[in-house]
Amino acid sequence: MLNAMMQAPVGDDVLGDDPTVKKLESVMAERFGTERALFCVSGTQANQIALMSHLSPGDEVICHPYAHIYNYEGGGIAANAHASVAFTGDDRGIMHPDGVLSCLKADDIHFPKSRVLAVENTSNKGGGTCYEWEEIEALRAVASSKGLNFHLDGARLYNAIVAKGHHESDYGAAFDSISICLSKGLGAPIGSILLGSEAFIQHAMRIRKRIGGGWRQAGYLAGAALYAIENNIERLEYDHVVAKDMATFLATLPFIEKVITPETNVLLFGLEEGVDQAKFIARLADKGIGISQMGPGKCRMVFHLNISETDLKEVKSVLAAL
Ligand SMILES: Cc1ncc(COP(=O)(O)O)c(C=O)c1O
Repeated sequence: MLNAMMQAPVGDDVLGDDPTVKKLESVMAERFGTERALFCVSGTQANQIALMSHLSPGDEVICHPYAHIYNYEGGGIAANAHASVAFTGDDRGIMHPDGVLSCLKADDIHFPKSRVLAVENTSNKGGGTCYEWEEIEALRAVASSKGLNFHLDGARLYNAIVAKGHHESDYGAAFDSISICLSKGLGAPIGSILLGSEAFIQHAMRIRKRIGGGWRQAGYLAGAALYAIENNIERLEYDHVVAKDMATFLATLPFIEKVITPETNVLLFGLEEGVDQAKFIARLADKGIGISQMGPGKCRMVFHLNISETDLKEVKSVLAAL
């Protein structure tokens, strides 16, 4: 990847003439069958640009209560898009048509305008859970019939695609906008892609510039992203296998409970009553093992290409010795 970065031809992307950024954008648009793609700094930036583009002040986004766009983007829905939120979904992080319909507001001056339906696939806080394709189609039908922009926070979309055998072009056709992280499990150091129609991306480019996201010789980073797309998608399956194996191991430990069998690379588990979550996480951090908390009693492990077999053995032996 570093070699790909160093060899990437670059230009000035603010002026639209960085050849490697152009190549990345056209490769991604082609894979998903969308008119255009836009290289963004981060998943947060790509999501927020999409929301700002779809929403006007006073509008409403319908999303899951676990949604990253609501919980972990610094209040961006309010701060950037001046919009409100309505929540629906199950405890796996999945939204269903009935729930979405019940969130819809009548066209009445008292209410916000329901304008965006935002899905997260895989769901981070849901434990890397994936939608079935029929579930996506059913939500698409609601979005179309109710005039909602259908946005996908696909930070880990390739994990879902690999786990479910879905097709990129089906996603491109179903959604009005998609953000995908090329960092995280795909291994690029920086960068997300935003997909959509020509008009949507034109608008998104203006917003990206406005918030300081126009970048110059971004081709070095686009080179890393291209390398990730070409080399690191199929291997995501390995992370899924390893996550399941770790789940089986965790279930044997007396101080761990409620291990949720992972569908992809995110593994959620709880701790027995009386085990202090903050101290547990800190003790593992002292041993170089990074686990995050996803709310009280909910711990998260994420598996990715920088975790070797030796690392996995080490994690197991540290946990077994606690
Ligand atoms: C579901 C989801 N969306 C968006 C993001 C934001 O990505 P970034 O960290 O690149 O801003 C994350 C990051 O963890 C995420 O899990």
